[in-house]
Amino acid sequence: MLENVQPAPPDAILGLTEAFRNDPNPEKINLGVGVYCDENGKTPVLGSVKQAERRILETETAKSYLPIDGNKDYAARVQALLFGAGSEIIAARRAATSQTPGGTGALRVAADFIHKAFPGATVWLSQPTWPNHPQILAAAGVPAKSYPYFDPATNALDFAAMKAALQEVSAGDVVLLHGCCHNPSGVDPSPEQWSEIGRLLVERGAIPLIDFAYQGFGLGLEEDAAGLRALLAVCPEMLIASSFSKNFGLYGERVGALTVLAQDAEAAARVQSQIKSVIRANYSNPPMHGAAIVATILGDEALREQWEGELAAMRDRINGMRRAFVETLAAKGVSRDFSFITRQLGMFSFSGLEKEQIERLRRDYSIYILGSGRINVAGITPSNIDRLCSAIGAVL
Ligand code: LMR
Repeated sequence: MLENVQPAPPDAILGLTEAFRNDPNPEKINLGVGVYCDENGKTPVLGSVKQAERRILETETAKSYLPIDGNKDYAARVQALLFGAGSEIIAARRAATSQTPGGTGALRVAADFIHKAFPGATVWLSQPTWPNHPQILAAAGVPAKSYPYFDPATNALDFAAMKAALQEVSAGDVVLLHGCCHNPSGVDPSPEQWSEIGRLLVERGAIPLIDFAYQGFGLGLEEDAAGLRALLAVCPEMLIASSFSKNFGLYGERVGALTVLAQDAEAAARVQSQIKSVIRANYSNPPMHGAAIVATILGDEALREQWEGELAAMRDRINGMRRAFVETLAAKGVSRDFSFITRQLGMFSFSGLEKEQIERLRRDYSIYILGSGRINVAGITPSNIDRLCSAIGAVL
């Protein structure tokens, strides 16, 4: 049987990481996968994470299974980050959170739940979106459609086209939105636009699925939740997939969560029972370590302060590199206007580079960016920026 299996194409993002690893050029630059690098090009373990791990090592007494929906303390901390610590949603127990293996795990559980509970539902995706979104939905057997989002002519949100498409959404559909720091474009709706999107979805009888993977990477922890909070003010029901890969630097620990928001505590509990049955049939129950780190940090005032400082430093370095990138390109005589990059938020920007230019960057300069033109700004450092901008100037 196995003789006849054909090879699958490499993954659009992780496949590029493999190609980068195999490139012998000592000056190679990886702006593909969304992983933060410090100014020395290293992906650090945060000091707050190391501290929390020491504590866990000393105090942990068991390695038995977690409940199907994971660490309860972690779930409560996740809700406080999403809704704000004093939120009415938390007091009314209208939300239920499951710890999942990364944001991808949360999205897959959400997709399996949608497939099971709402077999007629279509999930709407922004155009463009994270390349794994359509794959996850397809794997779960959930049909997907797309709505316009990013306008390459203005390098900004095409809100009129987005709204027009969302007016076509059917009752019972699900609309996937990036909570902040849109991946791949770095372009987010304004708080007013978020409210308008929320009202439109309520009118259509659709619910939002928020992919929230970059809280704290745009403007700040609370600031980056502004869109979500605007939606919460109008939408009584939603699904939220969280990831702590980026903001805690816990990529390989696979720390995520799926939160369902229902109209009352009874509905939330019913939905949670369905989510748990989906998880049990998928990976049974989640891994312990990463969520214990997040719960330890968020539950300790000093560690939380240290983490917030470390998160701010990552955010500031990325925003500094956005400005330096635009300035260095201009200093090298590149005439194309890249100033939009300083107006975008989070790890990513769409460079607007074309397929052939992207291929030349890789072939001639060992510079890796996604085929879509997405660059990971967090991979630009003071020591590679000069070479990067010269190469971009050359291929342009
Ligand atoms: C990315 O978009 O590069 C990250 O979210 C990593 C991944 O899993 O694709």
